[in-house]
Amino acid sequence: MERSAEKVRIMRKVEGASWRRNLPTAFEVCVVVVATACTMAAIFAAFVVTSSPIDPVALVLPRYLASGTENRKLECVEKLGEGLVQGPEDVVEARDGSLVVTTRDGWVKKVWSNGTVQSWKHVGGYPCGLALGVHGEIIVADPVRGLLNVTEDDEVRVVTNQAEGIAFTFADSVTVARNGQIYFTDASSEHSMHSWHLDVLEARPHGRMLNFDPITGRTTVLMGGLGFANGIALSPKEDFLVVCESWKYRCVRYWLEGESKGTSETFVDNLPGFPDNIHLHAPSQTFWLGVVGGRSWLIDLTHKTPFLKHFFARYWHRVKPFNFARADLIAVNLEGELVERYQDPRGSRLSFATGAVIKDNYLYIGSLTQNFLGRLSLDMQDCSSLHFSHWPLY
Ligand SMILES: *[C@@H]1O[C@H](CO)[C@@H](O)[C@H](O)[C@H]1NC(C)=O
Ligand SMILES: *[C@@H]1O[C@H](CO)[C@@H](O)[C@H](O)[C@H]1NC(C)=O
Repeated sequence: MERSAEKVRIMRKVEGASWRRNLPTAFEVCVVVVATACTMAAIFAAFVVTSSPIDPVALVLPRYLASGTENRKLECVEKLGEGLVQGPEDVVEARDGSLVVTTRDGWVKKVWSNGTVQSWKHVGGYPCGLALGVHGEIIVADPVRGLLNVTEDDEVRVVTNQAEGIAFTFADSVTVARNGQIYFTDASSEHSMHSWHLDVLEARPHGRMLNFDPITGRTTVLMGGLGFANGIALSPKEDFLVVCESWKYRCVRYWLEGESKGTSETFVDNLPGFPDNIHLHAPSQTFWLGVVGGRSWLIDLTHKTPFLKHFFARYWHRVKPFNFARADLIAVNLEGELVERYQDPRGSRLSFATGAVIKDNYLYIGSLTQNFLGRLSLDMQDCSSLHFSHWPLY
């Protein structure tokens, strides 16, 4: 009797011990948790990569060194035609002295210096860049329809919509030489205007720079393999073109004349954001560049990390690495050296400034996200000398 009670007691002790022995240790719990988390992360990563719409490559760029030259001059812009021009992306001076803009709702509108807005021509679609033609016509770059000829009297006509058998996907910016030759960009032959971010994240150069010859009617590709071919401008002597490559944060110079004819080289590099439109101001021998977005450690890291590119491409509607709530205009001389900079670093009055032209000592500034044409006197030192209804917020 006593022996069997003792046996039960021992057996219970053994069972208890083995039960306790079967309990996982803290280490084992950790291993299981980590393994599960890793498996789930791997499944998620595989899902992101296979469902992402791009085939990205890593892009290592020189680190942007934030300069100490930040200013807030663009916080002083006057809002011309407020509410009457939706996202005036590009601006050019017409022969009649008005400033012609392209808007997001398919209009080519004229803004007069007294603030009056004239709804000039409805071209439909998403007109981007524009330029003044040699007959006073306005040449508009429409992403898919191509170059449009917009005149006072005639119907809007397509000038060209393909080159070397490839239709334009994203005709973006245009400039016209004194001899009537038209030079323009097709930002990407892969990604359309509504998925511009995919071109940036993918970082494969699908951009082209082209020439339309009005005499032969032919369109030829002068440069391929550009990293989002955006703004384009001619030098004062028309011996070279400057073409901006947005996601490479640079603009290149393409020689039209001289011993380097047909070759290109870097013109301005390592910009503080995506160069957008570029316009020549001949009297001061300067090019004015709209620089959008801005650089940050996150963007530089994303460019180096294809997985992050897949992630942002997949979840673009939820999370973006770019910040467009700022404005930055940069003027460079004919050697590509910085001579002037106008900023609104927090986008408090103006953001997404895509470019500017100068007329009568005023900057007229376009933007993709504002509903006005910005205007600023080049003589202005600070906002206190200005008197306009919407006082800048400090
Ligand atoms: C502004 O200028 C334009 C062109 O000179 C003119 O047609 C228009 O009537 C002017 N508007 C106002 C309000 O003065
Ligand atoms: C645009 O149309 C006008 C009027 O028809 C014409 O004179 C001009 O040559 C055209 N421009 C181009 C680039 O086709």
